[in-house]
Amino acid sequence: MWHVVGSTGFIGRSLIEKLPPEVSYCCYARRPAAGEYQIDLLNLTAECYSEIRAGDYVVLLAAISSPDLCQSQYEMAYATNVTGTKRFIAECLRRDARVLFFSSDVVVGATDHSHDETMPVAPLGAYGGMKREIELAFADDPRFKVFRLSYVFSREDKFMKYLRKCVDSGEEADVFQALYRNVVYLDDVLEAVIALGKHFDAWHNPIFHLSGPELLCRADMAERFRSTIAPALRYTTRLPEASFFEARPNVIETHSLYLEQLLCRPPATLAEALKLEYQ
Ligand SMILES: NC(=O)c1ccc[n+]([C@@H]2O[C@H](COP(=O)([O-])OP(=O)(O)OC[C@H]3O[C@@H](n4cnc5c(N)ncnc54)[C@H](OP(=O)(O)O)[C@@H]3O)[C@@H](O)[C@H]2O)c1
Repeated sequence: MWHVVGSTGFIGRSLIEKLPPEVSYCCYARRPAAGEYQIDLLNLTAECYSEIRAGDYVVLLAAISSPDLCQSQYEMAYATNVTGTKRFIAECLRRDARVLFFSSDVVVGATDHSHDETMPVAPLGAYGGMKREIELAFADDPRFKVFRLSYVFSREDKFMKYLRKCVDSGEEADVFQALYRNVVYLDDVLEAVIALGKHFDAWHNPIFHLSGPELLCRADMAERFRSTIAPALRYTTRLPEASFFEARPNVIETHSLYLEQLLCRPPATLAEALKLEYQ
């Protein structure tokens, strides 16, 4: 059995649509729909674990995923992202399940060259610190693995929705010439989740960088969108204020030693992903 925890989020919703028909799965949400299970990482109950058995695959997406919220509401975010998350993972492992935890490239910290999974890290901001605490807490358990996600691109991510809204309304988009990331396509993330679930124990590395092949800032993404999909897009670029970088580094350059092998192909470039999303 597979368990999708945080099934109402951006990645969770898409994962459920993409799961192959042969996979049996349960969904877990704070406000569950019929047939789903209830989970609140701030208030874990026996119901959260009632279906979790030895050998099951737990895909743990639930988290406070906004770096700004982790900074501004630190105690609530810590109770969710660290205290509750640790308790939940520990109980899943006690039941001998396999756990996939979603971390972030913010754990790597600011880079001046591309980092792979084996290199030292320097987490930045409250969000990065919380993710790193979980990575370390279960680092020695082979039943626990980490996907360190770069910026996840799809037509439904917040930035792409904003660009589309600007195209539709004729408004000029206001775009940061900043936040350089190895943008990864949502479909590649979902395929990697599924591939890992099928052969979890065959992988001996604890961490996977979910990174695309190109280091792109938001202005680069806007330009790719304009040139391949939406010629009507108009945008201006600017630098964010210095305080913006307190919670997130300007440049996080990452690549993976394992992702291509997991996917059995290279991850998509942004131009390839845009064509797949809008074809
Ligand atoms: N998307 C990215 O670009 C990206 C990049 C790096 C890392 N990640 C990580 O990947 C994971 C999934 O990301 P996402 O973009 O899908 O995040 P998201 O859209 O913010 O979804 C977060 C999920 O967590 C749930 N949640 C929040 N607080 C909870 C609590 N106390 N108890 C139980 N569930 C709770 C939310 O439920 P409600 O619907 O009830 O709020 C939602 O289902 C997160 O761990 C995130 O940090 C994402």
